[in-house]
Amino acid sequence: MKRPYAMIAGTGHAVPKRVFMNSDFASIGIDTTDEWIFDRTGIRQRYIAGAGETLTSISVEAAHQAMEAAGVTAAELDAIVLGTASPDRLLPATAVEVQAALGATRAVAFDVDAACSGWLFGTQVAEGLMATGNYETILVIGAELLSRIINWKDRNTCVLFGDGAGATVMRKSTRQRGILSAYMRSDGTLADLLQREKGGSREPITAEIIEEGGHYLSMAGREVFKNAVRSMADAADRALDGAKLSASDVDLLIPHQANIRIIEATAKHANIPMEKVFVNVGTYGNTSAASIPIALNEAVRSGRIKDGSIVMFVAFGAGFTWGSMVVRF
Ligand code: UT7
Repeated sequence: MKRPYAMIAGTGHAVPKRVFMNSDFASIGIDTTDEWIFDRTGIRQRYIAGAGETLTSISVEAAHQAMEAAGVTAAELDAIVLGTASPDRLLPATAVEVQAALGATRAVAFDVDAACSGWLFGTQVAEGLMATGNYETILVIGAELLSRIINWKDRNTCVLFGDGAGATVMRKSTRQRGILSAYMRSDGTLADLLQREKGGSREPITAEIIEEGGHYLSMAGREVFKNAVRSMADAADRALDGAKLSASDVDLLIPHQANIRIIEATAKHANIPMEKVFVNVGTYGNTSAASIPIALNEAVRSGRIKDGSIVMFVAFGAGFTWGSMVVRF
């Protein structure tokens, strides 16, 4: 069956005001260096939310940009899908807060919990909603305030992550523009490798959990790295196969921005030269679900994506979850 051509009609992104440089970790007592962080990850700085900045506030700012670019008003939104692992509240979903702030009264709103794959999975959910025939215009957001869920005393994780939001407006296209192929996978047997173990309903928050930091994000970095390289390489192959394209057809690869070494390994496996790979991990750190839509917005606004460009997205995150998508713009 022919795909309905769910296209990305507008993009936007927002970050908190404060820039936190690698050199700033010394001021909070973390034993690390700019050299270690940059050599291992490619990260130079990240944005960190301050008082008054929330997941909703940066999501709404990104959404306004994407809606303006798409020429869409809040009243026209049929759905809001928000990928995040760091919601403003545990209940209800942050998507409904975004709905209220935008005044998108007709839109059904819900979160997608797929960690760093959140925007990619959310976009595929949006495509599925469109295929029902009941949804024409959908706002998909990937947003994180990871600074609020990381352990700022754990150098294994706190140097890696950043805050931000990316938004895209999806519309049905009558032209041959939109999603050409899509792929999603999960492997819950590896859930323990990247998690927030405690503070959920299995082990509700206690003073002891807070004391030991069990409610913070924890990660087995080396294991996650190996799985990310393997899964993202596989996902890149699947996306191309699904779209019946070869690597040389891809104008731009936008991979999840976790680590420059993972990005380079994915590009090498997919046989895509680094000139055709969008990289901004140095500026934002790993913003999880926000990383691909932030990169997409920068790529669109800097002219690296033009009418007709073939763009491949590849994501990987906690769960594990991973996937890919090929889109003609
Ligand atoms: O979004 C998807 C999820 N996340 C990822 O994709 C991240 C995947 N993992 C990675 O990117 C890498 O594994 C890291 C960047 C986290 C770590 O790089 P690595 O080359 O795998 O380093 P390592 O874990 O092998 O650690 C090497 C050493 C350790 O010391 P010992 O045990 O060898 O003496 C660490 O204690 O580096 C030490 N170390 C640090 N040193 C300075 C760990 N963190 C730091 C730090 N500064 N911030």
